[in-house]
Amino acid sequence: MTVLGVVMQKGGVGKSTTTLSLGVELGRLGARVLLVDMDAQSSLTQAVGFDLTHIEHSVYDVLMNPVRGIEPAIQPAGFGVDIVPATLGLARAELVLAGHVGRELLLRRALQGVREVYDYILIDSPPSLGLLTLNTMAASDALLVPLQAHVFALHAMGHLEETITLVQQLHPTIAIGGIVMTMVDKRTSVNQAVDQAARERYGDLVFETVIPFNVKLVEAPAAGQPIGLYAPNSTSAQAYARLAEEVRARYG
Ligand SMILES: Nc1ncnc2c1ncn2[C@@H]1O[C@H](COP(=O)(O)OP(=O)(O)OP(=O)(O)O)[C@@H](O)[C@H]1O
Ligand SMILES: [Mg+2]
Repeated sequence: MTVLGVVMQKGGVGKSTTTLSLGVELGRLGARVLLVDMDAQSSLTQAVGFDLTHIEHSVYDVLMNPVRGIEPAIQPAGFGVDIVPATLGLARAELVLAGHVGRELLLRRALQGVREVYDYILIDSPPSLGLLTLNTMAASDALLVPLQAHVFALHAMGHLEETITLVQQLHPTIAIGGIVMTMVDKRTSVNQAVDQAARERYGDLVFETVIPFNVKLVEAPAAGQPIGLYAPNSTSAQAYARLAEEVRARYG
């Protein structure tokens, strides 16, 4: 069983999209998958069609009472995967938990009881470096990084690497486990240059599969469906299916 934190300290690079699309495709390959929404924006929770006003147990409750474990907040998301949803109130966690000893390890502790229940736990995280991202990193076995094929992408990787070095004080073995190029438009030279630079710098950490820029991925969350259901024949759905096979080959 593998816990993958989907992280990148840059907004809108495809973290939530990758968490859902990859999770659902891993489920389709027969894996037992749990998605955890650690972002107060609740994009992942909304993308599976949940109504934020009707969520009784969210990841916020889990962080407030980690000893009880994460089970009470787990719900079937549909599409063959489970989810621990977030609500907008998760934004309070930062403030409420300030000064709480061990506050970076709350999610890790809460996940203990379900580690053997799932083959993959994928955690979506916010773009900022705060308590929720630290909890995500500290709870993960490896980090999955969506890298938007954009001019400043490698700059953002530098920031991420600094953060990982900091988190290694809490969790010495945490490291980048895979990098996936997202929103790739092969016609643009910038995209090609970023792809090439990333592969030179990170080698095999960069998955062979790249996720193309595809407007269906903008529409799918509005429809409350993962891409594999919303537009199964789209280039992006097929790319996430191939990514799932690469992830399975890497982590078993
Ligand atoms: N490959 C893609 N092609 C086109 N649009 C995409 C692609 N991947 C994601 N998007 C869209 O881009 C936007 C940002 O994606 P997403 O929400 O996954 O990013 P994020 O990194 O989770 O953002 P945030 O940092 O705000 O949490 C969304 O509207 C999403 O639907
Ligand atoms: Mg997101």
